[in-house]
Amino acid sequence: MTKDKELILRRFHLVCIVILIAGIIIQFSDESEFSVGMSKSELTHIPRDLSPKTKVLDLSQNYISEIHLSDISLLLELKVLRLSHNKIQYLDFSVFKFNRELEYLDLSYNQVQKISCHPVMSLKHLDLSFNDFDALPICKEFGKLTQLHFLGLSATKLKQLDLLPIAHLKLGYILLDLEGYYVKENEIESLQIPSTKTLHLVFHPNRSFSVQVNISVNIIECLQLTNVKLNDSNCKVLIKFLSEIIRGPNLLNFTLNHMETTWKCLVTVLQFLWPRPIEYLNIYNLTIVENIEKEDFTYSKTTLKALTIEHIAIRVFIYSKSALYTVFSEMNIMMLTISDTPLVHMFCPQTLSTFKFLNFTNNVFTDSIFQHCSTLVKLEMLILQKNDLESLFKIGLMTKYMISLKILDVSWNSLEYNIHDGNCTWVESIVVLNMSSNLLTDAVFRCLPPNVKVLDLHSNRIRSIPEDVNHLEALQELNVAFNSLTQLPGCGALDSLSVLIVDYNSISSPPADFFQSCQKMRSFRAGNNPFQCTCELRGFIHSVGQVPSEVVEGWPGSYVCNYPDSAKGTPLKDFHVSPLSCNTALLTVTIVATVLVVAISVTVLCVYLDGPWYLRMVCQWTQTRHRARHVPLEDLQRTLQFHAFVSYSDHDSAWVKGELLPNLEKEDIRVCVHERNFVPGKSIVENIINCIEKSYKSIFVLSPNFVRSEWCHYELYFAHHNLFHEGSNNLILILLEPIPQCNIPSKYHKLRALMTQRTYLEWPKDKSKHGLFWANIRAAFNVKLKLVTENCDVHMLKMSEDPT
Ligand SMILES: *[C@@H]1O[C@H](CO)[C@@H](O)[C@H](O)[C@H]1NC(C)=O
Repeated sequence: MTKDKELILRRFHLVCIVILIAGIIIQFSDESEFSVGMSKSELTHIPRDLSPKTKVLDLSQNYISEIHLSDISLLLELKVLRLSHNKIQYLDFSVFKFNRELEYLDLSYNQVQKISCHPVMSLKHLDLSFNDFDALPICKEFGKLTQLHFLGLSATKLKQLDLLPIAHLKLGYILLDLEGYYVKENEIESLQIPSTKTLHLVFHPNRSFSVQVNISVNIIECLQLTNVKLNDSNCKVLIKFLSEIIRGPNLLNFTLNHMETTWKCLVTVLQFLWPRPIEYLNIYNLTIVENIEKEDFTYSKTTLKALTIEHIAIRVFIYSKSALYTVFSEMNIMMLTISDTPLVHMFCPQTLSTFKFLNFTNNVFTDSIFQHCSTLVKLEMLILQKNDLESLFKIGLMTKYMISLKILDVSWNSLEYNIHDGNCTWVESIVVLNMSSNLLTDAVFRCLPPNVKVLDLHSNRIRSIPEDVNHLEALQELNVAFNSLTQLPGCGALDSLSVLIVDYNSISSPPADFFQSCQKMRSFRAGNNPFQCTCELRGFIHSVGQVPSEVVEGWPGSYVCNYPDSAKGTPLKDFHVSPLSCNTALLTVTIVATVLVVAISVTVLCVYLDGPWYLRMVCQWTQTRHRARHVPLEDLQRTLQFHAFVSYSDHDSAWVKGELLPNLEKEDIRVCVHERNFVPGKSIVENIINCIEKSYKSIFVLSPNFVRSEWCHYELYFAHHNLFHEGSNNLILILLEPIPQCNIPSKYHKLRALMTQRTYLEWPKDKSKHGLFWANIRAAFNVKLKLVTENCDVHMLKMSEDPT
């Protein structure tokens, strides 16, 4: 029994561990799976195999027509469900009853006509807009969604109390799609909107604006109308609609998207809004149709601060441009943005203007803009980005009377400065000047506002910054990235400079003293230059290490060697070169010292240890070995009986018998010596010749005695003769005692010649050197020779050995 229990317990433990591990694995793999994107996947229903940990599920733009409880009830952690652009016709909110975390539900652009109610308490964002509802789809359960921030609805009919169930909610955004809304004859509808920060109404994109509904709002801050199509006759419909809605003092922000109108109606709308308590008016995607003629505009007192019109299309071929410009130029507001339009000009205000901020990005303005304009005295910021400006000189002139102008952006134009235009005139108040993406060259530094602090000149054609830019004492930030600078500008003339951006130029070796000369540098960016990683760069790399790391931006990643090829791609941080190879003086000293040491060592070796003798011996030894290996053996072996014939003077016989012969014979070298091996009965000459011919080598023991011996000369003569006939080096000369050249009689020119030409082996007096000497001799015989042993000769050999 106890054993069984133990077993069960063990199994239980095992199962637990397995489950634990599986749990960990699932957790890890789900971490990446919790967001599922399956939009545009041609799905006809919600996939069944979704992970229960799914938090974000995007199923937009499919063909899903139904949602069932079983489809999503397992997705207990689902937070975001996107189902827009599908084919859902009926929605029962109770399918979400298990999705307690669901915060974001987007069902816009479906075909929902009916919903069944159930409170999904966690919802913050519910979008039911652009569906086929007849009346507003509001359940009384929605009143419980206290967290709801965004509510998107659509309807074709409106009733005053439709939104009553949610009237008490504090919503942030109500989107009301009225695309399907149509006006019934003589029937005025009304709708009470709960308080919300933003109310966004979307009308039918192609129908003329026609709404007969009294929309009353409690409190709204922002009103957005999309698809407002007006002409001269229905203009008053909008005015009436707006006057209902803009009653309270709360509406601050009014936006019109996709507005199509006549110029006359637009001016009417603006005129209507002018005295209303709106502060920000935005019109995005404005199309002006029919004609543009002069309209009177009364610039009454206004709370409007900013008018923004972005993207104007003018569907009028011939029109009065001045009628258009005047309405805007005389506006008594602070901020005006007219961008992305085909406007080529803007008038100078006729009276002192209230404009502080003007943004004319992406129009087609030319240099004539605001020339001689003295009324923009309050203007602080002027943006003329992406226009057709060409002359920097004229831009300078433009600012002449803008006495408050601080920030000027003329980036993305075709600006050039020609020195011949003369000295530039700038208003002194400019502190930020953006001239990036133009065609400016080095000359631009002769045409700058005197007090400029921030200067953006990136993406121009600057090759160098002139040394004498002494009138830029105030300059703090300079951006000259994406130019063609080859030198890093110093801070000599720019003593306030604290930010310098010079990446993407052609700077190859920044100077080592850069940070020293630029004491105020706070931020420095110079990456992506073609750095030349040579000795000169070491100083700079070192200096980078000395400044606080946050100063050098992009270090080390974007600072990479470009040259030499061996270092290409190496980060500057990792570029090291030995101090020795960079310092010429140090290099010279080192070379001289090395040479000296070698010379001294050689001298010591020569003088005290007889180095040259060793050297010579080793040389000969290697040569001999080499030669011995290259003699064709077969030819030799046919006639040879001896390894060596030894010729010497009788006076040296003591050495020969005491040293040479024992040493040779010890190595099994068979030697022919006249004392033992000469055949009696033959003449001496015959014997000599015989002996030499039958020997592989001839050894001559040279000494003054040798020189004096007549016989020796014969022997040498024959041996030498043999040497030339055989074409092999078979002479070994041993110099037993030095022979002064002059002691050799002139008739022995052969010996003389040999002594001078051929290398000989010197018999060392020093006993310790004898080993090497014998090794050298033996090397000459380092051949496997099969000697012929003719009977008689062997006999003779033995005979001659007998007497001893
Ligand atoms: C200058 O304008 C360019 C774009 O035109 C912008 O990216 C850049 O940040 C501006 N520079 C400054 C200093 O504002």
